[in-house]
Formats: sequence, C-alpha cells, structure tokens
Amino acid sequence: MSNQAAWLKAPKANLEVDSAPTAKAGQGEVVIKNAFLAINPVDWKIQSYGFPNYKYPDILGRDIAGEIVEIGQDVTRLHLGQRVIAHALGRLVGDPAYGGFQLYTVAKEITVASIPDSLSYEHAVVLPLSISTAAAGLYQKGFLEVPYSTIDPKPTGKTILFWGGSSSVGSTTIQLAVASGLTVVSTASKKNFDYVKALGAHHVFDHSSATAGCVISQSVSHQLRIYL
Ligand SMILES: NC(=O)c1ccc[n+]([C@@H]2O[C@H](COP(=O)([O-])OP(=O)(O)OC[C@H]3O[C@@H](n4cnc5c(N)ncnc54)[C@H](OP(=O)(O)O)[C@@H]3O)[C@@H](O)[C@H]2O)c1
Repeated sequence: MSNQAAWLKAPKANLEVDSAPTAKAGQGEVVIKNAFLAINPVDWKIQSYGFPNYKYPDILGRDIAGEIVEIGQDVTRLHLGQRVIAHALGRLVGDPAYGGFQLYTVAKEITVASIPDSLSYEHAVVLPLSISTAAAGLYQKGFLEVPYSTIDPKPTGKTILFWGGSSSVGSTTIQLAVASGLTVVSTASKKNFDYVKALGAHHVFDHSSATAGCVISQSVSHQLRIYL
C-alpha cells in the first residue's frame, strides 16, 4: 500500500503531492483507502492563515470517505471492505498519518461510521466534521446536553434557535436536534426556506433582513430555551 499525500510543508504554502509513510492501524484504529475527500473550512483557514506553533510538514483534511483496508486490534464495530466516512483527526493526534489528504488515512474507530450502499462516497464525504461539530454542541457535557437523537424521538418541550440553518453545520444540527425531540427555529436566505423546512425546522426566518432579530423575538422568543 504505497502512499502519497498532499503535504503542507510550510505556513501559507501551496500543497505539494509527495510520498507519505505507509499507513498502519494501531489499537482501536483502521486504515481507510480514501475514495473522496472534502475541503472543510478549517483546512483552507489553516493553509491560508497559518496557526501559531503549528508543526510542519503536515497533511490537512478532516472529511474522508472510502473503504476499510486494515483493521487494528480491538476494533469491534467495523470490518474489512466496509464503505465508511470518517472524521480524520490530523493534528489533533499530532501525526500526519491521521490527516485526510492522502491515499490512505489512519482513523480512530470512534470517528468512523458505515454508510449505506445507496449513499455515494461523493455525497457522504461532506458529513464527518459537520456531524462532529453538531454533536459536540448538542450532546457534550458542558454544552447543550440535549437527549441523544433517536428514530422515534419524544418531544422535550424545548425550542432551539439555529442561525444559518442552510449551512453544512446548520443542516446537520437541525436534523440531529429534531431527532432529539427539540422544536427547531432557524434562519436562512429565502431561497433556502423550503430546504431548511425539509430538514425538519418548524419555523424559518430570513437572516438577510435587517429586522430578523426583532421578527424572531416577536414570533417565537416565548418558546426559546436554547440558542446556538
Ligand atoms: N463545515 C464544517 O464541518 C464546520 C465545522 C466546524 C466549524 N465550521 C464553521 O462553521 C461556519 C459555517 O461553515 P459551514 O461549512 O457550515 O458553511 P457552508 O456550508 O459554506 O454554509 C454557508 C451558508 O451560510 C449561510 N450564511 C451566510 N452568511 C450568513 C449570515 N450572516 N448569517 C447566517 N447564515 C449565513 C448562507 O446560507 P443562505 O444562502 O441560506 O443565506 C450560506 O450558504 C464557518 O465559520 C466554519 O468555519 C464548519
């Protein structure tokens, strides 16, 4: 499994395709042969702005989709040949082997999810960091701590406001929140109202309007318990 990566070798540099170490799955890890990669905002922000004390060379890329080609010790939920998406942890682990922009990425089992045959890699690849971000905000201790999502959620009686529901993070968060039994109020451009409602939002307002805050406040503020 000879490997190649798009390396970021210096602050604000262009990416350079070069050879990379062979990926090896450790305990609780898998190796994914990447089929599709997505460029997340965090990737271009790190490349364009540079981060203080950032270690170079590095391999960017958080959102990956592909096939599992190696399974490490103690991995129980995943199997060889499985079609998956993963949140590539990259610098969070401190090793470029965990970055997304390469042919083979090492991923922690906890960040990997299988995808159905009906979902293409191309469509699925945009989901991982967006789901991690939404889930962290909704479920983690010290954050909103709402009930976990289920297929058949019980209404919590709580209403939540998401500003920017048509964005990647907004779209994911709305779907998870609805599946957690929350009533969702959101904002979008008018052209995206139907899209945001189709995700499950109960009320949608136009954030380009100068009076958006007042209109939301007058219409639903009595229901709101949570703002995001
Ligand atoms: N994508 C991720 O995985 C991720 C993870 C962590 C953090 N973030 C951060 O979250 C932010 C959004 O990223 P994204 O990837 O979700 O964006 P995105 O998918 O590119 O969404 C952009 C959308 O945001 C809406 N928008 C633009 N200006 C707005 C405003 N003033 N108020 C509310 N909505 C506005 C627009 O929707 P309309 O056309 O409907 O106006 C636009 O289409 C960025 O700061 C990003 O760095 C993203």
